[in-house]
This record gives sequence, C-alpha cells and structure tokens, in this order.
Amino acid sequence: MARIAVVPGDGIGREVIEQGVRVLKALQPGLEYEWFDLGAEKYLAEGVTMPDGLMERWRSDFDCIYLGALGDPRVPSNVHAKDILLGARFQLDLYINLRPIKLLDARYCPLKDVGPKDMDIMVFRENTEGLYTGIGGQFKRGTQDEVAIEAEMNTRKGVERIIRAAFEYADKHGKTKICMSDKSNAMRHGHDLWQRVFKLVAAEYPAIASSHLYVDVLAMELVRHPAQFEVIVTNNLFGDIITDLGAILQGGIGLAGSGNINPGEVSLFEPVHGSAPDIAGQGLANPLAAILAAAMMLEYLGFVEDAAAVNAAVAACLINDQITPELGGKLSTSQVGDAVLARLSV
Ligand code: NAD
Ligand code: IPM
Ligand code: MN
Repeated sequence: MARIAVVPGDGIGREVIEQGVRVLKALQPGLEYEWFDLGAEKYLAEGVTMPDGLMERWRSDFDCIYLGALGDPRVPSNVHAKDILLGARFQLDLYINLRPIKLLDARYCPLKDVGPKDMDIMVFRENTEGLYTGIGGQFKRGTQDEVAIEAEMNTRKGVERIIRAAFEYADKHGKTKICMSDKSNAMRHGHDLWQRVFKLVAAEYPAIASSHLYVDVLAMELVRHPAQFEVIVTNNLFGDIITDLGAILQGGIGLAGSGNINPGEVSLFEPVHGSAPDIAGQGLANPLAAILAAAMMLEYLGFVEDAAAVNAAVAACLINDQITPELGGKLSTSQVGDAVLARLSV
C-alpha cells in the first residue's frame, strides 16, 4: 500500500491537513501515514528545520508527501520553509508544479459573466530552478554601496522537461492549446532559451496549438478572457504569481490545490495558500484547497475515481453554501470537512 508522509506544518496548515487526512482515510483506509512534526515550533525549540537523513527517507520510503504550509512571523527568515518545502522541491527534483485554475461555482469568481465552462486551466509551473535557487550574493551588506544579486537559472534540461510535461498532459487529456509565458522581450538570455525550447517541443505536437504571451500580458488576459486558456507553462516565479491570481479567479486562495511532481517518484501535494497567521487557530481556515490537493494526490496514486468523487463533493459543498467565512459562509474548518465527507457518503 502507498505510504504518505504528512507534514501539517505551521498555522492553518495543521487545521486544513487534518480535514484532508479525514477525507483520504475515508476513501482509502489502506493508505499508510507517518506524521512529521516539522515547522516553526520545532525550529524555535530545537534549532532543527529538516532532520538529517529525512529527505532521503522520504525519497526511498514514501510515495507522497502531504504538506500544509510553512511560515511563521516568529521566523522572519523563513529558513524552515526554505529547508523543508523548497528543500523537497529541489532535492526530490519535483520539477512539475501542477496548479489547476478551475472555477467550480460562478458566484465565487470576481469576474462578471464568467462561469465554470469559462475557466478550466492547468498551469505547469517550473519548480526546480528560475529565480528560486538562491544563486547570487550580497556585497558590502548594510552599507550605502550595497549590491544584492539574485541570479535566474534556466537550464536546457529544466526548461525542456517542464514544457514537455505540459505538452504530454495536453495530449493525454484532450487539450487543444498551450500558452507559454515568459518575459523574453526584457530577459534576453534565460527567456530566449524558453522561446527556442518551446518552439522545438511544440513542433513535435502539431495537433496542439501553441502560443506565447509575455507574463504581464498573461496577467491581463487571465482577467479579461480566461476562457482562452487551457494549459499554461511558465517559469518558477511567474508561475507562483500567476497561480495566486488564478486562485482568486477561481474563488479564492482557500480553493487552490497543487501538486509538486517528479513523475514516478515521491511527489508532494499541498494547498497553494500559506500558513495564514492572521486566522490561524480559530477554525476559520477553508480546508477545501487542502482537500483538493488530497484529490490530486489520490489521482497521482491511481485512485482516479476517488479523486473525481472528492472534486464533485467539493463542488457540491460550494454550490450549497457549505463554506467558511472568507467565502461568506458560516461553517468552521471541521464542519466543511464534515460536509465533504457527508457528500462522499463514506
Ligand atoms: P497566506 O496564503 O498564508 O495568506 C494570504 C491571505 O489569504 C490571508 O489573509 C489569509 O488569511 C488568507 N487565507 C489563506 N489561506 C486561507 C484559507 N485556507 N482559508 C481562508 N483564508 C485563507 O499568505 P501570506 O500571508 O503571504 O503568508 C503567510 C506565511 O505563509 C508566510 O510565512 C509565507 O511565506 C508562508 N507561505 C507558505 C506557503 C507554503 O508553505 N506552501 C505558501 C504561501 C505562503
Ligand atoms: C508557494 C509559496 C512558496 C513559493 C513560498 C512559501 C516559498 O508561495 O508554494 O506558492 O514561492 O513557491
Ligand atoms: Mn505562492
């Protein structure tokens, strides 16, 4: 049976993961779980972010990692998130950050006259390079002459595999078009590489229409006419920003799930949102993003029908106003979990 490493993390991460695990256990009682109490609390108490050897154990002993969120105002450097979440993305080579933008109920979309049929997008965010590698440095720190350099890394291998993953997904799921987004008008080195590799891979998929938008225009077009997009592929930082925009278009950050995937290897599933210290510990957090991430994990593990059932139950909760306060509802985090479970009738 598949083994899941559960990392609730900080703030609302703990609250939403509890609900996601309830759903997983109800549908697949045979899955094995091991809980890892990593996060700000452990770091502040013991000075440990990621225990020695744990990343290797995740790689060899687990099929998936189910993570809440990492971030705490008492750790302004965010060093634990860097070591655990970005550590997993880099060291486990989770190169596909898969982030759906799917509207389930028109009422939660801030755009006018946009319904579920107008918004069903899959974003492929590159997850192992770009501006996230920490390559760079500071010179004359703290002086008037200070220099700070954050280098963007784009490798032929990294760019090609995320673009290829997007085309393979489109091909397999009957999608007809892919939009690649970069800023190659200003970033002539790295994003020129994206341009060339995109054209090369696109040529192998003549049945899929390929297009390109600069990321500033993509942000505008996502708001102006989201129905034009089916699959979007972009770099690490642009994907981060565009998927928060996508989250609010589909009803809010409390509804956005994601997967960090290395096909065939241990992969990590998490809500797109963070630890939300402003609402933590009050039962206000929307667990649906974490539950949708759990559905993505079920699909990854091959439980395709269970994944579809969870997606349908979440949509039914939204349509029937079984929602948390940030969406205008009255239910608590655990009551929304109850509602999803009731709709799964398990
Ligand atoms: P955030 O996503 O935690 O919160 C942004 C806003 O959305 C807040 O107003 C919050 O209350 C609200 N919100 C978020 N999730 C919600 C939910 N499930 N239900 C209802 N409302 C929700 O972003 P932030 O405030 O920028 O970050 C807080 C901390 O989380 C930071 O330390 C940040 O680095 C970290 N973070 C971690 C992850 C991750 O672990 N994957 C992702 C994003 C941010
Ligand atoms: C996300 C988060 C992370 C990112 C942070 C916490 C480093 O915003 O998963 O979207 O930027 O990738
Ligand atoms: Mn983000």
